[in-house]
Amino acid sequence: MRYKSQSVAYWYFAVAMVLFGLQLVFGLLSATKYLGPDPLLYILPFDVTKVIHTNLLIVWVLTGFMGATYWMVPEESRSELHSVKLAYIQLILWTLMGVTAIIGYLFRYGTGNKLLEQPLPHKLVIVVCMLIFLYNIGMTIKKSGRFTTTEGVLVLGLASSAVLFFPALLHYENYTVSIFYRWWTIHLWVEGVWMMIMGAFLAYLLIRLSGADREVMEKWLYVIVGLVFIAGILGTAHHYYWVGVPQYWLPIGGFFSALEPLALAGMAAYAYAAMRRSGLAHPNTLALHWTIGSAVFALFGAGLLGLAHTWPSVNKWTHGTLVTAMHGHAAFYGAYAMIVLAMITYALPAMTHGRREQGSSMGYWAFWLQISGMFGMTLSFATAGIGQVYLERIMGMGYLDAQLKIQVHFLMLIATASVFTIGVALFIVDFFRYAPRFQLSQEPDPELDTTSPSSAT
Ligand code: HEM
Ligand code: HEM
Ligand SMILES: [Fe+2]
Repeated sequence: MRYKSQSVAYWYFAVAMVLFGLQLVFGLLSATKYLGPDPLLYILPFDVTKVIHTNLLIVWVLTGFMGATYWMVPEESRSELHSVKLAYIQLILWTLMGVTAIIGYLFRYGTGNKLLEQPLPHKLVIVVCMLIFLYNIGMTIKKSGRFTTTEGVLVLGLASSAVLFFPALLHYENYTVSIFYRWWTIHLWVEGVWMMIMGAFLAYLLIRLSGADREVMEKWLYVIVGLVFIAGILGTAHHYYWVGVPQYWLPIGGFFSALEPLALAGMAAYAYAAMRRSGLAHPNTLALHWTIGSAVFALFGAGLLGLAHTWPSVNKWTHGTLVTAMHGHAAFYGAYAMIVLAMITYALPAMTHGRREQGSSMGYWAFWLQISGMFGMTLSFATAGIGQVYLERIMGMGYLDAQLKIQVHFLMLIATASVFTIGVALFIVDFFRYAPRFQLSQEPDPELDTTSPSSAT
C-alpha cells in the first residue's frame, strides 16, 4: 500500500464479503424449493428468496467495484484520495440502502422489476452514493493531474453505469415499454459498461502482476472497449425477440450479440499473453490465479454460454428457462465476482497483518473449490434447462409436471453448490482471519521509472 487513504478499500471489501456469504444462503434456499414441499412457503417463498439472492449479488459486486476503485485510483494517479470521510459516508449510506432493501423484500416491498426491484427511495440513495463516489474519484484525479488510460476506462465505465441507472428510476405502465427500457440498464450494464470496468481492473492487475508493458496493455484495452461498444449496444436487441416490439429486432439482436464474445475472447487472449510473457514473476500468484481465471471463466460463461442461446432460432425455445440461469451464473461469476475477488486478493497482503504475499493454502482451496463448484452448478442448470426445454416446450408438458421430471438435476445443483459454498466460506475466513493493518509500502513503485509519459496525461 503506497497511499494511506487506500485503506478505505478494506472496509468496502469486508462489507462485500459479508453480503456475498448472505447471497449464497438465499441461493441455496431458492434451490431447495425446487425439491418441494416447501415448509417455508408462507414465510419465505421462492420469489422472495430469489429477489434477495440476485439483489445481494448486485449490491456486493458493486461494493467490490467501489472498494477496488478506491484501491486502484490512488495508485494510478499517484495521490491520496480526495476525501476519505466522503468514502466512509458513502459506504455507510450504501450498506444501509442494501440492508433495508433486503428487509423490505421480506415484506414484499419492491417494484417487481427483475434485478431492479429496489423501491424508489432506495434507488435515490443509490444515485446519491454514485454521485458522492464519482465526485470523490473525479476530484482525486483532478487534484493529482495524472490520468492514465486504464483509470480512464474504469471511470468511464463507472460513470456510464450511473447514467444507465436513470431509465430504472422511471415507472412505465405498459409492460412492453417497461421491459424495453429495463434492458437499457441491465443489458448495457453487464454486456457494456461493466465490461469496461472489468477490462480496466484486468489491465491494472496484469500490469502490476505480470510487469507487462503499460503502453501495450492500454492499446489492447482500447481494442476491447471498441469491440464492447460495436457489439454490445445493438446486442441489447437479443432481449427484444419476444417482448412485443417490431420484428426487425430479431436479425439485429442475433447478429450484433453474436459478435459480443469477441471482446471476451480478446480479454482472455490478452491475459494469457501477458502471463506468458512475464513468466509469473510476481510473488502474489494467488491473485494471478483469480485474474487469469476471471478472464477465462468469463469467456466460458458469458462468451460461449451466451452465444449458445443468443440466436433467435435457439432463444425461442430457451428464453426464460433454466438455460438462462445456467448462463447467468457462469457469466456473472466469471466476469464480475472473480474480478472483484482478484482485486481483493491482490490488495489484501498490504491491508492485513502477517499475511504472506503468495497467498495461503486456504486461499488456493477457496479458488479451486469455487471454480469446480461453479462449473458443476453451470452443468446442473444446463442439464435441467435442456430437459425443461424438451419436456415443456417441445413435448408440451405442463410447467410443474416438467419441473418434477428434472428434480434430479436440482440434487446435482445443491451438491455442486455446496462445494462452491465451501470455497466461498474459505475465502471469507481467509479474508477475516488476519487483522487489518495498513502499513505503507517501503518499496518504490515498480512503474515509476518505466512508465512512459504518453500513458499519462
Ligand atoms: C459478463 C457478461 C454477461 C453477464 C453477467 C450476463 C448475465 C446474464 C443474466 C443475469 C441474464 C438473465 C437476465 C434476466 O433474465 O433478467 C442474461 C440473459 C441473456 N444473456 Fe447474458 N450475460 C453476459 C453476457 C452475454 C453475452 C456475451 C451473450 C451473447 C453472446 C449473452 C446472451 C444472453 C441472452 C440471449 C440472454 C437472454 C436469455 C433469455 O432469453 O432468457 N449474455 N445474461
Ligand atoms: C450456493 C450457490 C448458489 C445457488 C444454490 C444458487 C441458486 C440459484 C437459484 C435456484 C436461482 C433461481 C433460478 C430460477 O429462476 O429458477 C438463482 C438465480 C440467480 N443466481 Fe444463483 N445461486 C448460487 C450462487 C450464485 C452466484 C455466486 C451468482 C453470481 C455470481 C449467482 C447469480 C444468480 C443470478 C444472476 C440469478 C438469476 C438468473 C435468472 O434469472 O435467470 N448465483 N440462483
Ligand atoms: Fe444481454
